[in-house]
Amino acid sequence: MTLSALTSDDFHLLAAAAGAAPSLHNSQPWLFRPTPDLRGLAVRLDLTRAVRTTDPDGRALHVSVGAALLNLRVAAGRIGRQAAVRLLPDPDDPELAAEVDLSGPAWSPPAFGRDLYPAVTLRHSSRRPFTDRSVPRVVIDELEEAAEAEGASLAIPAEAGVRRILELTAEAERRTAADLARLRETRSWLRAEAPAADGIPLSVLGPLDHDARVPVRSFTGSPPGPAVHTERFEALPQVATLSTRTDQPADWLRAGQAMQRVWLLATDHGLCASVLHQAVEWPDTRWRLRDASEGPGHVQLVLRLGYGLPGPATPRRPVSEILTTPDGRPAGDER
Ligand SMILES: Cc1cc2nc3c(=O)[nH]c(=O)nc-3n(C[C@H](O)[C@H](O)[C@H](O)COP(=O)(O)O)c2cc1C
Repeated sequence: MTLSALTSDDFHLLAAAAGAAPSLHNSQPWLFRPTPDLRGLAVRLDLTRAVRTTDPDGRALHVSVGAALLNLRVAAGRIGRQAAVRLLPDPDDPELAAEVDLSGPAWSPPAFGRDLYPAVTLRHSSRRPFTDRSVPRVVIDELEEAAEAEGASLAIPAEAGVRRILELTAEAERRTAADLARLRETRSWLRAEAPAADGIPLSVLGPLDHDARVPVRSFTGSPPGPAVHTERFEALPQVATLSTRTDQPADWLRAGQAMQRVWLLATDHGLCASVLHQAVEWPDTRWRLRDASEGPGHVQLVLRLGYGLPGPATPRRPVSEILTTPDGRPAGDER
């Protein structure tokens, strides 16, 4: 059954939900273009918003756009539609990340087993210390299944594995802090004073770990010292790696969808999360993140999970900037 054309309110809701996704440095590298028949959307990479020094291959950019695509699929259910997705459908147009056909009725029960739509706006990166409460096995099982359903694999290592991942992250963080080009680039996404629609407001950054066990990204590059606010973090952080079997742009988009599905589900379970991406940004530390006993795989992301204070909201670009007309012109706020 083919449903009628979507309204501009529908497209607005879809783009707003997609645009609420997490992205490297809150770069929001995405554009959404309705199809000419208004029954679908093209999801496009916005390469003008690439973070090129830190992410030279655009891997994290694809992961971010994959997260936006997952939000869009969740929001499709909210407007009574089912999203049928084709990833990278045109080899001559690699900036076309996905075509989303929205002409069919929504699945019942919800496509993701539960309604994840409220979590789209409730989810924020939480960089503060978590409590020592463990994530129950039954929740971990659900998160693993969610990643699997998106073609990725989520592994939650035991203590030795956690320590290895944190050491690699700390090593990468030190290297990044000593790399002037990366530091300059990261700082260019920090928003200190003027309100902005992208980047990371200084106010959302949390403290550094007093015991230097949890290497949260410092963003400013300042070494831990008396001037930097520190707090004690959880004794044994709960971290998860997200991997794919191969390492192509389609895998990065799948990893982004898996990350976001896991993160929304975790949010729905009352969990907080943040990304520890530093070790994935250097080829050698990324390689060493792999756990050979888990089988072949390319680590795409490290997530820290736990219970604690939800993170603060960060700004987003207005829908008028990320939603275009079917012929690719800026839609403006025409509603
Ligand atoms: C690929 C990717 C890498 C990220 N890396 C980090 C990181 O290393 N440290 C961090 O604190 N946040 C990281 N983030 C989270 C973003 O900074 C965050 O999503 C963005 O600022 C928007 O904030 P929100 O998640 O609260 O909506 C990453 C997000 C993505 C998608």
